[in-house]
Amino acid sequence: MSDEGERLTELAKRRGFFLQSAGAYGGVSGFYTYGPQGAALKDNVEDAWRDRYVTREGHMEISAPDVMPEAVFEASGHLDGFDDMIIECPECGESHRADHLVEDNTDIEEAESVSTEEIAELIAEHDLVCPSCGTGLAGEPVDDFNLMFETNIGPGSSSPGYLRPETAQGIFVEFPQLAEYARNQLPFGVAQIGKAYRNEISPRKSLIRVREFTQAELEHFIDPETDEPPLERVEDVTVPLYSAKQQESEDGDVQELTIREAVDEGIIGDEWVAFYLGLSKAWYERIGVDMDRFRYRQHLSGELAHYAADCWDAESELGGDWVEITGFAYRGDYDLKKHAEHSGEDYTVFKQYDEPVTVERPTVDPDMSVLGPEFGGAAGAIGSELESLVERNPDAFDSDAVTVEVDGEEYTVDIEATGYSVEEVTESGEHIRPHVVEPSFGVGRLVYTVLAHAHTTDEVDGEERSYLSLPPEVAPTTVGVFPLMDKDGLGERAREVASDLRAAGLEVTYDDSGAIGRRYRRQDEVGTPFCVTIDYETQEDGTVTVRERDTTAQQRVAVDDLAETLTALRDGDLTFDEL
Ligand code: GLY
Repeated sequence: MSDEGERLTELAKRRGFFLQSAGAYGGVSGFYTYGPQGAALKDNVEDAWRDRYVTREGHMEISAPDVMPEAVFEASGHLDGFDDMIIECPECGESHRADHLVEDNTDIEEAESVSTEEIAELIAEHDLVCPSCGTGLAGEPVDDFNLMFETNIGPGSSSPGYLRPETAQGIFVEFPQLAEYARNQLPFGVAQIGKAYRNEISPRKSLIRVREFTQAELEHFIDPETDEPPLERVEDVTVPLYSAKQQESEDGDVQELTIREAVDEGIIGDEWVAFYLGLSKAWYERIGVDMDRFRYRQHLSGELAHYAADCWDAESELGGDWVEITGFAYRGDYDLKKHAEHSGEDYTVFKQYDEPVTVERPTVDPDMSVLGPEFGGAAGAIGSELESLVERNPDAFDSDAVTVEVDGEEYTVDIEATGYSVEEVTESGEHIRPHVVEPSFGVGRLVYTVLAHAHTTDEVDGEERSYLSLPPEVAPTTVGVFPLMDKDGLGERAREVASDLRAAGLEVTYDDSGAIGRRYRRQDEVGTPFCVTIDYETQEDGTVTVRERDTTAQQRVAVDDLAETLTALRDGDLTFDEL
């Protein structure tokens, strides 16, 4: 783990941000418990996400189950294709992610897109060894390992289920009903914040690679023919883009471009994806991601998930590595089509035309009085096959006879007997299978990034100070309330102030233990942006000291105005300088 990672893990455990869970039993890699500070920070990041991607965009939010039946993941492709590459040490039996071994020990930065055969060759070529025991791994097989956790639904094993590997499928399976809720009006978005599970081969790097994690996902359903994103809202936003082309070129680098330039130059191929990249940059800044340690990176073609046509990741720099914090994928109609095929349900929306239109529709009306005597028992199936063929390929009826296949046997039917004709019909609309644009955020990785990027040290009163410069909106606690001393009625007054601030909806910590300087340091270390001290002047003129964390500057504020002032400071409606 990097120095930054070690510092953060130590702070996280000591001050209650996160810790490996079930430590009393040795702990299990990839499972973390958020402590009081971490849970509050995570909640605040989720609230900020909900505010940005659901409330302000007018989308819907749902909450689907964590366990879903096998059929869902058969349809989605996860059962077959949601794999990582595994290699097992012949000596100690430890399993490792084969592509990570290559990335860690060669110049290759992205090995996920390389085939299993090539990874095995690279392992042999570079004489890579087991990180646990040092045994050579050359010649060991590299296999695909499915990342889903399997379970049984109910007793027995007749009904397998899986912990969802992405919250998205809980949205896709319910599409027919969700489209009804949206009154069949495209475009519409459905969001979900919830747990997802991946049985990672060798989780590492703290909250970065875990087996149970929280996703915040938005599935934006669009008509690809007619719906356009409101690009004008973000076209002037400058974003750091690391395109696939730049990654593949020898001296390629991140390009700082406006969204408009990136679209016009074809660097971001899809305008909806471009819209979300533009929209999201300000959101990352809002929650405290350091923009000097941030970029958008396009997936290389071999790296794309099985459902994605294009994908850009938002990445943050952590301990010298670039880590995905969000995937912005263009999923096309992959998921809805698969669920329609596997379930037989209708995964389209009916789009009403402005005016009814008249179209020519080829149809058949098989003449059973001819087909029956000629084909006997197969006549019914031949009739059905003709009906299906005319929808699929009407050109097949452009001759004197039509050949269809039923149960592996070919039957040729005279065109007269098919009852083929072209009718004029008036249609009021059409069934459309929407395409999906998906911004998918890893909440734990965001929390970790925000903590890592906020962690700062400086010197105050000749002593080194460590603090988290978290934005007030996401900080676990907004205000620490201290009596200068717990005597002469100062303690009672401070408890009263704390209680009033809580009643006003602020997150408050009350602290009367130790020297005031130490109390400030405790709050600094967990990122509390403001501290209020009740002193003898409070008793004289009804004012308190409000101290800002990063600058340590202090102002006196009337107790009567305190709740309103702190709320405005938290919500960004007021800056400390403006006090
Ligand atoms: N839904 C995208 C992902 O889980 O990666």
